[in-house]
Amino acid sequence: MNIELAPSILSANFAQLAVDAQQAIDGGGTVLHLDIMDGHFVPNLTIGPPVVASLRKELKVPFDCHFMIENPDFFIPEFADAGANWISVHQEACIHLDRTLHLIAAHGCKPGVVLNPATPVETLTEVLDLVHHVLVMSVNPGFGGQKFIPNSLNKIAALARMRAERKLDFRIEVDGGVDLETVTDVVKAGAELLVAGNAVFGHGDIRSNAAKLLEAARVATMTRA
Ligand code: DX5
Ligand code: ZN
Repeated sequence: MNIELAPSILSANFAQLAVDAQQAIDGGGTVLHLDIMDGHFVPNLTIGPPVVASLRKELKVPFDCHFMIENPDFFIPEFADAGANWISVHQEACIHLDRTLHLIAAHGCKPGVVLNPATPVETLTEVLDLVHHVLVMSVNPGFGGQKFIPNSLNKIAALARMRAERKLDFRIEVDGGVDLETVTDVVKAGAELLVAGNAVFGHGDIRSNAAKLLEAARVATMTRA
């Protein structure tokens, strides 16, 4: 199980995104999580392809683009061109999810699928063999700094069971409210890609926040059942 920290720049200083992101990478972040919001699927707006393209010139790590948008098919080519490496789409936003996941792969990106807190893991049964990662939202998407929803742990554990039973190899990512208090439980439940925004960028030293969170996650793997 390869634990990775994916700092979410949603809580970074947008006037110096690349600088803040690099500090999180220096602290051990190996994937950069970029939250793409359209003001329709979620009640917030963030960044588009030009910002992704600018960051791409400055940073070396894979870009994990979490689409919280309607009509994701329309934007997949543009974000792939801008430098996205992974693109995940919400199950709730995709009428033709199978087609959308294939479209992501056709543009050279790793396809992922995201579940809102109220969406059961069973809704993914038919696409688990198509995805590189499943992202379990542990808050309702749209904003950083929200409280972790404990039922997410059951969903992570259920996905880990489904993966083992079907001998699949998708990775399990968790997003929302991951901090020094919750990280042990999410890792023990089976998550390995840990998105963290507020806990990394919200206060204090970004580099040491990232390092401490990653260390706590690694310690948790040693006690995992
Ligand atoms: C929320 C975003 C998250 C957000 C997490 O909709 O998908 O990636 O940045 O922020 P924290 O870690 O502060 O809960
Ligand atoms: Zn996210």
